[in-house]
Amino acid sequence: MQRSSDRWVRRTSARLVLLVAALFAVGGAILPGVVSAQSPYSTISPVTDQANDINDIYKLTFWLSLIVFVGVQIGIVYTVLSYRRRAEGERPEQIHGNKTLEIIWTIIPAIILLIIFIPTVRTIYAHDDQVNNPDLVVEVYGKQWWWEVHYPSEDGESKIVTANEIHVPQGKRVVFHLYTNNVIHSFWVPQLSGKMDLIPGHENKLAIDTDTPGYFFGQCAEYCGDSHALMRFKVIVEPEEQFLAWQDAWLAGPQQASGDLAGGDIAAVPQSMALCMTCHEINGVESVAGGNAVPDLPEELDAARTFGPNLSLLGCRTTLAAGTLRNTPENLASWLHDPEGIKPGNYMGTVITPGSLTDEQIQEIVTYLESLQPEEGCGEIPVQPGVTEQVQVQDPD
Ligand code: HEC
Repeated sequence: MQRSSDRWVRRTSARLVLLVAALFAVGGAILPGVVSAQSPYSTISPVTDQANDINDIYKLTFWLSLIVFVGVQIGIVYTVLSYRRRAEGERPEQIHGNKTLEIIWTIIPAIILLIIFIPTVRTIYAHDDQVNNPDLVVEVYGKQWWWEVHYPSEDGESKIVTANEIHVPQGKRVVFHLYTNNVIHSFWVPQLSGKMDLIPGHENKLAIDTDTPGYFFGQCAEYCGDSHALMRFKVIVEPEEQFLAWQDAWLAGPQQASGDLAGGDIAAVPQSMALCMTCHEINGVESVAGGNAVPDLPEELDAARTFGPNLSLLGCRTTLAAGTLRNTPENLASWLHDPEGIKPGNYMGTVITPGSLTDEQIQEIVTYLESLQPEEGCGEIPVQPGVTEQVQVQDPD
């Protein structure tokens, strides 16, 4: 009886060891292929001082955890070997409690937590102070499921309003003011800084120092409804003169070519877009149906009264619908055909459904929207060293 239970224990232990070894082997083979420090959403390839500070705390925590892990494993192996039953029928020494040990393993974790706590709190306060010294303020409004971006001018009015692709100048301290009037969202660009929630009725701020030019990918990090996973965005850090050129182009309104598509009138849009303009705006273009007011908005959200993204310079955007689709004429046509099919639950899909627009109307609108570019074309955006792959975006069939 004794012998057979011994055998069972030995066989089970051997199987467990094999299973753990197999898991490590499979993990080791798969992981390098799917995770990379260079992936656009990596938190361990920081490019700002703020993200570096966070990475330093992460590294400290990682190494301390590793020491704890190895220490505990050594303790377990030592205990198992030292206090095992050495001969058949022997009853190993029975031990109940050890005050010295208990005091030691209460003090050591307390010290470890203190070592993590002090730099964490210092970093939180330092980052909090930085929001008071901005070179540029950008207001970001979390919508379901996209991001509205305002650049307030000196007089406090937002003359530039765009969506999902946030242009900022290189070498500046940019402070994001974060708002929402619907549910809680979270603004997260892993390579630039930590997460910051957008909370209804509350203004949160996040500072970054933009030293490295390039695209930096962000994602809403707080579950916010049907298309939460498709609520992506980009921060585009570009040399200052390029940023200023982008601002000027935005303020200048659509180029003459766009006017040609609207019966020669640069301040109009194609007739088939009348319905669109109840929800969207295009700088320099009359809102055909007018009246973009969202009822019952608190005053501080006055700036975000439109239902849909501002479509100015849409031709220069790299993606559509908050990073869901690559911005190509074919994808734009698919979006206009069936927004609900591409991004479940989105507000546009409650009005525009398959059949709302004829194929000719879709083609006309696609040509018009893709023509919304500055006269001298869209500037090249430098890609940061190391990151060559883009995040996956859909190409619908
Ligand atoms: C009921 C309001 C509404 C109407 C009407 C509407 N849209 Fe939209 N539209 C939205 C919203 C909201 C989004 C954002 C969807 C998302 O990304 O979650 C959107 C997104 C878009 C986008 C992607 C923009 C971006 O920033 O990526 C384009 C392009 C667009 N709409 C064009 C149109 C056109 C053209 C029409 C008319 C045929 C139209 N919309 C009608 C609300 C509307």
